[in-house]
Amino acid sequence: MTVRSSFVVVANRLPVDEVSTPEGRQWRRSPGGLVTALHPVLAEHQGTWVGWAGGTGAAPEPFDLEGIRLHPVPLSAEELERYYEGQSNATIWPLYHDAVETPAYKRRWREAYRLVNARFAEAAAEVAAEGATVWVQDYQLQLVPAMLRELRPDLRIGFFLHIPFPPIELFMQMPFRTEILRGLLGADLVGFQQRLAAQNFVRLARHLLGLRYEGQMIQVDGRQVKAGAFPISIDTREMERLATDPAIQARAKEIREELGNPKTIILGVDRLDYTKGIELRLKAFRELLADGKLTVPDAVMVQVATPSRERVEHYQALRVKVEREVGRINGEFGRVGVPAVHYLHQSYSRTELAAMYAAADVMMVTPLRDGMNLVAKEYVASRADQGGALVLSEFAGAATELRQAFLCNPHDPDAVKDALLRAVHVEKPEARRRMRTMQRHLRTHDVGHWAKSFLTELGVPQSEVA
Ligand code: ADP
Ligand code: G6P
Repeated sequence: MTVRSSFVVVANRLPVDEVSTPEGRQWRRSPGGLVTALHPVLAEHQGTWVGWAGGTGAAPEPFDLEGIRLHPVPLSAEELERYYEGQSNATIWPLYHDAVETPAYKRRWREAYRLVNARFAEAAAEVAAEGATVWVQDYQLQLVPAMLRELRPDLRIGFFLHIPFPPIELFMQMPFRTEILRGLLGADLVGFQQRLAAQNFVRLARHLLGLRYEGQMIQVDGRQVKAGAFPISIDTREMERLATDPAIQARAKEIREELGNPKTIILGVDRLDYTKGIELRLKAFRELLADGKLTVPDAVMVQVATPSRERVEHYQALRVKVEREVGRINGEFGRVGVPAVHYLHQSYSRTELAAMYAAADVMMVTPLRDGMNLVAKEYVASRADQGGALVLSEFAGAATELRQAFLCNPHDPDAVKDALLRAVHVEKPEARRRMRTMQRHLRTHDVGHWAKSFLTELGVPQSEVA
């Protein structure tokens, strides 16, 4: 029997991982911030999360986990390749990130995107109760709002884009640009990470469809669609709790020892993605070693590069480039038993990541373009000791809020080197002042605040926002 919910989240991925246990395969809630933020609202409303469970072929039957109904949507192997790897991650992802890699346009990818979006919309229409609120997430599902409105005009529909929304000139490259825009305009509220992105969107609506807008409110087919900025955040309290856990502090100390107790540990933690600026960060480190401004083993770099979208060409090419650069740096500046860069192409638990954050003197977050970048926020929140320094690209959404970071333009190698050196040499009291201010901000602007702001703007009564 289909359970009908008054609150439904629709996202490409379900917030669960399938794990092997002595009792057999089981689902576990994944540790993401989004599910943490939405969990109370979902649990309160017998909410349903519609999404892909991973894998291809038939989807598992809907199931309940920790008070949330999970409703899996199937993807065939061909859809995975065309909708997910193709249209979502080789067309839209690079285009929306300033085309830092060239987007590829293929008709069969678009068709698969349309088909899969329709499947998600149908699934949401099936599980939503009369008058329910449905919140659609991210660039993989931009057609869902309009498709869902067509099926269920009674629903209140929100959409949030986790990645940047490009300026008109870039967006206009997209072959099915009008359809995407119309898809988004099916929502009552379209949320972005940045004010500029929301502005790009309302201007595009006028440019492409001749729609009138006032402020952030667009008139479309006799309805009003609101655009707005809602910068996403992290579960700050959870991060602080992890950071003050004695076991994690002990592990951080151990990590420092394992690295040979260097004076300065420089850390990068990213998905292995070409938007993250991993290569330019490595290059800045290499040049500082070559200039003699940093030396091994006083300074070492740890780069965690989480495997991601491994069948997409640009990602394969990036892996080769990054691994070549790591090899080059270690070849030139490493010594037996003392590499200059510790490169880890692996996933980690939240606890191990928290220990790495706590161990790092300088965190480098240098994306060429990033919707927000939660790693930057996690690092700040996890510095219970108010130590550490954050080097942050101006092109990360997080730079709008974390103004006390060492900000730099990632396109300018000298600016990156300069920011890194300033972070390495900052006096402790100044570092502490910077951290404290950023931490204060994150305490009030956590992921719960983000969800509440969005849902309130969408018109969900305060009492129901939890
Ligand atoms: P993106 O969403 O583009 O991957 P963000 O920085 O916004 O970038 O979010 C990445 C999230 O993934 C963070 O919460 C971070 O802690 C987590 N993460 C990144 N690398 C790893 C890893 N190797 N193991 C586990 N979690 C990771
Ligand atoms: C970014 C996107 C998310 C996506 C995540 C991981 O954060 O905004 O929508 O889920 O990257 O990427 P993946 O392709 O593995 O889902």
